[in-house]
Amino acid sequence: MATATRAASLVSIRDLSRAEMERVLEVAAEMGHARSDELHGKQVALLFYEPSTRTRNSFLTAVHQMGGTVCGFDNTEGTSVQKGETLHDTIKMFEAYSDAIVLRHPRDGAARWAADLSGVPLINAGDGKNQHPTQTLLDLFSMRATQGRLDNLHVALTGDLKYGRTVHSLADALAEFRGNVLHLVAPPTLEFPAQHAAELRARGMEIHQHRRLEDIAREVDVLYVTRIQRERLPDETEYEKVRGSYRLTAATLEGAKDNMRVLHPLPRVDEIAADVDATKHAYYFEQARNGIPVRKALLRLLMLTDELAGEK
Ligand code: NCD
Repeated sequence: MATATRAASLVSIRDLSRAEMERVLEVAAEMGHARSDELHGKQVALLFYEPSTRTRNSFLTAVHQMGGTVCGFDNTEGTSVQKGETLHDTIKMFEAYSDAIVLRHPRDGAARWAADLSGVPLINAGDGKNQHPTQTLLDLFSMRATQGRLDNLHVALTGDLKYGRTVHSLADALAEFRGNVLHLVAPPTLEFPAQHAAELRARGMEIHQHRRLEDIAREVDVLYVTRIQRERLPDETEYEKVRGSYRLTAATLEGAKDNMRVLHPLPRVDEIAADVDATKHAYYFEQARNGIPVRKALLRLLMLTDELAGEK
């Protein structure tokens, strides 16, 4: 059901053109952390079928800073999902209670499916290992803030590149800009999907594979670290095989470019040692803070204007 409402949703970063991504970042910079009442009288449903700290709370804070209210759930316990209610029926309920829906779900493709049936804008807050477009926009915001550009960057993606939705989304976004080079560093069982890499190369992106972070840390502008997505591995023995197999320490960063920044969507487990926090390269806590203006910008553009409604 391709209705007019579908285009007003944000499901995949691939739905946005370069100009639209830049527009989100521009509005985010303009809105900052200031309060307004532009969402007065409006309610946003936060439907989180998976754990979340930052995504949920930065959306919550964004709505509050704009004078709106929220409803929803932060886990399915105590909801009718436990009684067997389907995603279909849950979306139908919450479109009646709210003016927009923010959905996090463990199944790849759940957000697209939900957006197609929702009568209000739907924002994907992460669907399985597939996409996490709002995280990507705050990652881009952070890269532009620290590097001054989103073109011609050398970006290393490291960690769980197989199951991590943040790196899948981010790679798609970086391919939309010019001259960005991806350096992939992952344990053999957690490599970036070959098909996805082939699609990015077909779009003109240069991609290199490395085994060790040390081989590339001095050359890149951004080092994007991720945790092993333990909950998505087929079983615990797979996790035991890879746990602790990569770890960024301050020593690894010696000789890195002065302006190189380490990003991480968080939460971190043990893949960034605490001694990195005190280096000039650590940017992950500021990055998390950037989630608020970026999500405010998305709420404005999707709920109050139709600037993101155009077909790519
Ligand atoms: C990420 C996610 O949920 O995909 N977290 C987040 O939104 N900041 C990354 C992760 O859980 O590892």
